[in-house]
Amino acid sequence: MKLSSIIMAKFDFSKRESFGSKFGIIAAAAGSAIGLGNIWRFPYIVGENGGGAFLIIYLFFVISIGIPVMLSEFAIGRGAQRNPIGAFKKLAPGKPWFLVGIMGVGAAFMILAFYTVVAGWTLEYLYQSVANGFKEKTAEQIGEMFEHFRTTYRPVMWFLVFMLFTAGIVISGVKKGIERYTKVLMPILLLILIVISVRSVTLPGSKEGLDFLFKPDFTKITAGTVLEALGQAFFSLSIGMGTLITYGSYISKKENLTTTAVSVTMADTFIAVLAGIAIFPAVFAFGIPPASEEGLVYKTLPIIFQKMTGGYYFSLLFFILLGVAALTSTISVLEVIVAYFSEELNISRKQSTWLGTAAVAVLGVFASYSSGVFSFLNFTSASILLPLGGLLIVMFIGWYYGKKKTREELTNQGTIRVVIFPVYMFLVKFLAPIAIAAVFLYGLGVF
Ligand code: PFF
Repeated sequence: MKLSSIIMAKFDFSKRESFGSKFGIIAAAAGSAIGLGNIWRFPYIVGENGGGAFLIIYLFFVISIGIPVMLSEFAIGRGAQRNPIGAFKKLAPGKPWFLVGIMGVGAAFMILAFYTVVAGWTLEYLYQSVANGFKEKTAEQIGEMFEHFRTTYRPVMWFLVFMLFTAGIVISGVKKGIERYTKVLMPILLLILIVISVRSVTLPGSKEGLDFLFKPDFTKITAGTVLEALGQAFFSLSIGMGTLITYGSYISKKENLTTTAVSVTMADTFIAVLAGIAIFPAVFAFGIPPASEEGLVYKTLPIIFQKMTGGYYFSLLFFILLGVAALTSTISVLEVIVAYFSEELNISRKQSTWLGTAAVAVLGVFASYSSGVFSFLNFTSASILLPLGGLLIVMFIGWYYGKKKTREELTNQGTIRVVIFPVYMFLVKFLAPIAIAAVFLYGLGVF
């Protein structure tokens, strides 16, 4: 083939892949949503920010903003049958909406770089659990282990290993890769989490942990908390950057997008709460003050496992759980990049996967060693790009794409009923944009 014809050649959209079953769609999308954000981040910020009081705000955002944004992403993706950038170009030709897609693909690079670093730590801790590396260590020594580990070559090594796992699944495609693995991994995840939760709540003295998680303390609610709740809802549901536009583009025209979005949101929220139930009762039962941020999982929990009967096995189970949760999320983020590369640059899935993996690997090495780079990527993507992306996505549906076309997409051209459609339209047109903009601008200190 001549070079000119290679460059001129366009991606053959008639050969585009799709998910094979309803369970496959839910497993993949819930797999994306359920991740480190649920198991490690959510329990901690709920506990710190007023327990049940925070939970109420979080649930409000999930229902009034999370579901509408997710449904909008599905509608855009399935309507266009494209990656996020291609989707906006197709649905709004000649208009600047494709910039939302560019922002999303940019966010995908950033999230994947720092998120996979944390996922890599999980592999080290799984390795240490197998090797019984925490045995007879004091709390202080376990804390030092984590700090020391981060200065060695090992975080980068595990980060690269995790990227390879991710690439290995994505390279096999939507049905044979993503769907096939998430369908097996998600039930395993649920099972492990249930086993750990039962163990945790049956420990003597676990009630204090449940209080920490659920008892409402409204004095802890500030403007910052509200912003935190919104950011967490976006991050946890994987919305605002086109991950679900991409997955939506693989959903068959016969599926009900509304019930899919509601199921995925419910699954994500349920798992987050269950993770809190798995962690805090155990932490409090052993009288250990929960450490903040990454310390909760990588410092506090290994101490607990040392003290608990059968802790060796629970430690193994827990880090497998965390690794599985992270993996089904990293594949969804890499898929955004791969879909973009393969459709817009017209290179094969294989080449796209390696190209994306290599680019993320470079960024991730910096994120692994520099906490400045790590925090920058974390903050810019989760606190700025996701809410901004979400705002623009709902505005696209509410104000540009419009009621008629959106209704056609959500009702499968009028063949199914979507009872909540008027409420959804109201939310995407008015409430969601105003709420996101207000919380976002407040958070940035604009007013
Ligand atoms: N939702 C994932 C979690 O809660 O861990 C993180 C995530 C995945 C964010 C995919 C964004 C995304 F596109």
